[in-house]
Amino acid sequence: MPKINQNYSKLPGSYLFSDIAKRVDRYKSEHPGNSVISLGIGDVTLPIVPAVTAAMHRATDEMGDAATFRGYGPEQGYEFLRETLAQQQYISRGAPISADEIFISDGAKCDTGNFGELFDVDNTAAVCDPVYPVYVDTNAMAGRAGDFMPDGKWNKICYMPCVKENGFIPELPKEHVDLIYLCYPNNPTGVAITAARLKQWVDYALKTGAIILYDAAYEAFITGDLPHSIYEIEGARACAVEFRSFSKTAGFTGLRCAYTVIPRDLKVGGTSLHAMWSRRQTTKFNGVSYVTQCAAQAACLPEGRSQTMDCIRYYLENAKIIKDGLSKAGYEAFGGENGPYIWLKTPASLTSWEFFDKLLNHAEVVGTPGSGFGPHGEGYFRLTGFGSRKNTIEAVERILTRI
Ligand code: MLT
Repeated sequence: MPKINQNYSKLPGSYLFSDIAKRVDRYKSEHPGNSVISLGIGDVTLPIVPAVTAAMHRATDEMGDAATFRGYGPEQGYEFLRETLAQQQYISRGAPISADEIFISDGAKCDTGNFGELFDVDNTAAVCDPVYPVYVDTNAMAGRAGDFMPDGKWNKICYMPCVKENGFIPELPKEHVDLIYLCYPNNPTGVAITAARLKQWVDYALKTGAIILYDAAYEAFITGDLPHSIYEIEGARACAVEFRSFSKTAGFTGLRCAYTVIPRDLKVGGTSLHAMWSRRQTTKFNGVSYVTQCAAQAACLPEGRSQTMDCIRYYLENAKIIKDGLSKAGYEAFGGENGPYIWLKTPASLTSWEFFDKLLNHAEVVGTPGSGFGPHGEGYFRLTGFGSRKNTIEAVERILTRI
């Protein structure tokens, strides 16, 4: 009889967003006909922009013509897309990244989750607390997290509190860590990081030999003078991997396209992470469809870029409506200016899950309980700006009048 990976049996409950979806489905089946507004999972609601759908139509026609049909694509992704990304997202911002350092994939969630495979189980991972649960759960699945303790923490993970007092930017760890997961603009708190603070992390990683796994999936939401990429910081090429996504940037949650950047000179004990990831991806992944990569490129070209930026501004306006509305009513709310998420303090004496239940039962609004993102998320609640304008306004109205 095969032995199963016992690390899975250590995982508490189900994946956060699956758990919430089940609860909401149950509520809906018990209250048929009621209108529930979801500001829970960060899923986009605006359609793919016209410049991108036009590129998909063209690419589809090419696939249906013997003269232009394509089978398996290049292993790292089509050069036209990688070149566009290198120029537009990196070189133009003074970040020295070349096309051959970019790996096209079907999601930042899978890339951040799978990247841990490159590292021995005997490494210490440091995560922000609260944190996007994928980083923690995938380390637990790999056996790197140790055991899940009654305090809601894994005993081999280093949790770095992100609280109001430190502006939701963690302090540098005092103990030794090997892998540092950072996500800015942050999910779930919605706050961004300054270049000066990010430089402290890069300097720390260079000094200690740690690797930073930098999730920049929400960089397009930055409105201020802040770094969009960790490679804007000097020295980052020698200590950081960066994950990006088209999901929130260009509405690709249902289309699937992302990319991971690994500088060629990034080595751990002389071993190239670029070479390892290339070996891993070519063995386990067959690439993103040609049609999708054409769509992704179109989202970066001037017409598509301008249209997708209109969508980003729409979601940021939603975030502002939520933040302003709830703040005026006395809620303490953070984020939302350089990211699509609002991080709300739950009203006194209510835990995150109690507030979730109250919101669902009384206002029929779905959000995400902060404690689902880690122990320091307790007493907080996440709402997203990704709803429709109408639903966003109505959700705020319902919270103000029914809670
Ligand atoms: C979220 O709501 O945190 C994200 O949508 C989840 C994801 O991107 O996987």
